[in-house]
Amino acid sequence: MSAAERITRLRAELEQHSYNYYVLDTPTIPDAEYDKLFRELQALEDQYPELKTADSPTQRVGDKNLGKKREGFEAVRHAVPMLSIRTETDTEASGATNFDARVRNALGRDGEVEYACELKFDGLAVNLRYEHGLLFQAATRGDGETGEDVTQNVLTIHSIPLRLHDCQAEVLEVRGEVYMSRKDFNRYNDKQRELGLPTLVNPRNGAAGSIRQLDPALAAKRPLSFFAYGLGEVKGWTLPATHSGILDALASFGMPVCDERSVVSGAQALAEFHQRIAAKRDALPFDIDGVVYKVNSLALQQELGFVSREPRWAVAHKFPAEEQITILRDIEIQVGRTGKLTPVAKLEPVFVGGTTVSNATLHNEDEIRRKDVHIGDTVIVRRAGDVIPEVVGVLIEKRQANARAFVMPTTCPVCGSHVVREEGEADARCTGGLFCPAQRKQALLHFAGRRAMNIEELGDKMVEQLVDGGIVGTPADIYRLDMDVLSNLEGVREQSGQNLLKAIERSKQPTLARFIYALGIRNVGETTAKDLARHFGSLDKLKAADESLLQQVPDVGPVVAQSVAAFFAESHNCQVIAELRIAGVLLQEHEGEPINTLPLSGKTFVLTGTLPSMSRDEAKAKLEALGAKVAGSVSKKTDYVVAGDEAGSKLDKARELGVPVMDEQALIQLLGNHLYGGHA
Ligand code: IVH
Repeated sequence: MSAAERITRLRAELEQHSYNYYVLDTPTIPDAEYDKLFRELQALEDQYPELKTADSPTQRVGDKNLGKKREGFEAVRHAVPMLSIRTETDTEASGATNFDARVRNALGRDGEVEYACELKFDGLAVNLRYEHGLLFQAATRGDGETGEDVTQNVLTIHSIPLRLHDCQAEVLEVRGEVYMSRKDFNRYNDKQRELGLPTLVNPRNGAAGSIRQLDPALAAKRPLSFFAYGLGEVKGWTLPATHSGILDALASFGMPVCDERSVVSGAQALAEFHQRIAAKRDALPFDIDGVVYKVNSLALQQELGFVSREPRWAVAHKFPAEEQITILRDIEIQVGRTGKLTPVAKLEPVFVGGTTVSNATLHNEDEIRRKDVHIGDTVIVRRAGDVIPEVVGVLIEKRQANARAFVMPTTCPVCGSHVVREEGEADARCTGGLFCPAQRKQALLHFAGRRAMNIEELGDKMVEQLVDGGIVGTPADIYRLDMDVLSNLEGVREQSGQNLLKAIERSKQPTLARFIYALGIRNVGETTAKDLARHFGSLDKLKAADESLLQQVPDVGPVVAQSVAAFFAESHNCQVIAELRIAGVLLQEHEGEPINTLPLSGKTFVLTGTLPSMSRDEAKAKLEALGAKVAGSVSKKTDYVVAGDEAGSKLDKARELGVPVMDEQALIQLLGNHLYGGHA
């Protein structure tokens, strides 16, 4: 094969893998393998510079751009102005009915109109100009007439194709939203916090900031994504008859188009779409601030035209805001399970992101200083998705003369022990350990947690009373509780006492993995606990392992190994474990029984949608008990997908990849077969 042929082959292969990974979210090759092919292509292009092309995958974060900070952005005049749409701020159903009424009125129609419904992504609009199928230029919206050339930064967005698949149109301008996913936003901020560097206020600012970043190397460090939602200038391509047809065509060209869209008729259906999306807003992997309705027929769109630079055929219908302004009354300190001191803002209650919020995290001392938060300030509170509400900023101009700065206490507000902040650490910690009632309470709550020993009846209030009353000090004490003790507690009725005792009894035969997790060893989360259980098979073997032996467990590095070894080196921890065993806690260990003898070992399952009778956690636990792995996304490596109601894109992906799909009925059958000794 000639170098030119190999280069073409490599490019096509890399493009396909990139598309699978970034657009379909279904990786088809290990990262290391991708890197190898990428480096081979780079080497060939270096050897034969004449074979380099602008659409080669090597050009995304091409070395030529790294560290080359520009002076500013070139202005780009849009061939077709980038307009905005009218916003319906009323978050009730009337937002939908009003729009539909205006449309039908303008068209002079009685019957139902067909609409394309989409999400209103919360990022920033860009125009991607493709000429003869190649990405030619990317520009921001600017004032709608003139934007800025941000091509170099847009190249770093992996889901944006450098070349359209099967589209040679002379000009095709694709318009859409550049955004930052919540995962990428949180990951970026966590990293920044660790390094003591400034954090992003919200994903939208993150997207806007990176796209206008003058150094593309820095832009590449802030991962962005893109969804196409419309067109700009088009030459040499016959438009489909509908907006939904356009989006389908863009998807077939390899553009990322959001799956969450519908074609519906009539006002009622618009309102239903608004409601359905509002219900799943928190579960989406990115922020939206509403939905968008567009008249689906392009002919009708033309008939409707524009009023004062806004199309009459489209509207944005908002959701309640995820950011609000309120007053910060005080800052309290919360002491966590590992002694971490978290400053918590006590707020004037405010309705944000769908609930009333009166507490919000301030993370740590440095964050407070960086954001310049004072007690008494007017602050911006954010609650998005199922993330804990946080204070993201201050309205400095509203600061009153009596506002006070915050000072981290030097002693623990709960137990009076010294507070230390080790060098290079962002968090201050109480040194009281389990002497500190706050740490003890958190440790007990963790021990009893749903994913640990699963003693659900042992909640906040109960633990509070048990610890404050000196009744429970260690997890072993839980197993010594009886009705005599419980009946003396305030507000504990006979029935709830009985329920608690029953739950405690039921918890006595945990799997080894749950038990390890329940111990609350620093840096040992659920996954690590499972890995350790699988590897060692028994608690005694785990206890006996030194750091080097621990590091032989896949995914266990020096930090985790150190934490585990340190935990078991502490005699009072071993004492508690011994007492738990005496109290009747019997671990389900599988000593000497390698994991691959379990009936579903080596099989990967993905669960999606709502199962009729089982929760997803339940199904997961049952599968894992039989040795299966339960993954979050569908890929070629998935053996089975279990689909319930409203299974979405994962189900589509399974069908596309030919992965077998089963319903709950089939799952129960499979589980039953194995429980009663059958074979798959
Ligand atoms: S259509 C002429 N569709 O919302 C119609 N816009 O004012 C042009 N946006 O900043 C816009 N999601 O970037 C459209 N699905 C969607 C959208 C969307 C977000 C943004 C857009 C602009 C504003 C519209």
